[in-house]
Amino acid sequence: MARKIIIDTDPGQDDAVAILLALASPELDVLGITAVAGNVPLALTEKNARKVCELAGRPDMIVFAGAVRPLVRKLVTAEYVHGKTGLDGPDLPEPTMQLQEQHAVDFIIETLMREESGTVTLCPLGPLTNIALALIREPRIAPRIQQIVFMGGGFFEGGNTTPAAEFNIYVDPHAADVVLKSGIPTVIMPLDVTHKALTTRSRVDLFRRMGTKVGDATVALLEFFERFDEEKYGTDGGPLHDPCVIAYLLKPDLFKGRTVNVEIETGAELTMGMTVVDWWGVTQRPRNATVMRDIDADGFFALLAERLARL
Ligand code: RIB
Ligand code: CA
Repeated sequence: MARKIIIDTDPGQDDAVAILLALASPELDVLGITAVAGNVPLALTEKNARKVCELAGRPDMIVFAGAVRPLVRKLVTAEYVHGKTGLDGPDLPEPTMQLQEQHAVDFIIETLMREESGTVTLCPLGPLTNIALALIREPRIAPRIQQIVFMGGGFFEGGNTTPAAEFNIYVDPHAADVVLKSGIPTVIMPLDVTHKALTTRSRVDLFRRMGTKVGDATVALLEFFERFDEEKYGTDGGPLHDPCVIAYLLKPDLFKGRTVNVEIETGAELTMGMTVVDWWGVTQRPRNATVMRDIDADGFFALLAERLARL
């Protein structure tokens, strides 16, 4: 029985690779893809999600538009990383598949209330606005969610948007606070892990050698996306963040982490959006999240290449 998931996303080149990985993996039953404002405004993230579904040969996938801005703060976007379309790199055609009429938050609630309790996993890859709105609008969904596995935050690695905060959490710290206080079993893929998953030249060549439409598009996505981080970190390749979430569902043993307390800074501007991780258990705060810190990067890229070759 395939694992039922909803992907919430702000494509974004790395989101796109995560969506491709999910759609290529028969172990996963993607019930729907919900778009959120983040890397670029919502009008672009929802369109990009549809472009990626068509690239994967899945024009039948249902894609929904969600929140146009964070719960409280003004939207902050990242065109400087992802380009003005949010999916710069490959030249993907305008999507012909339709966007669903229903609001993403209503889709998330309706799906969780319909599916058997405890059988649907949420996979947020962007700011957590849609997830928080669903939890606020219909608290009864919380105990029905099997698990939330999201990319966001950073602790030993610090932040990538401010010295203290990672982008997804920085954009909507209040939403992240709602999610981390929900009591739902949660796994976090922070920068501490994703900075160890670098798109080195030899790893990008895994996709270049495929000679397929998806392989070529993935090379173009990665080569555009990595340039900013290579510059910033002086590394060979950039961190491939979002596919870590999907890879965890497929091969959890690729990752190592610890179940600890995580709280979000929502007060001080200096540390706004910081994920304060009690890694050493110096407080009695509830251990509300499993925070990943290590990854078998070669195993991760081997999984990605093996799966994307199927599309
Ligand atoms: O900080 C990295 C995260 O922000 C990734 O999800 C990337 O897609 C951007 O949304
Ligand atoms: Ca993302």
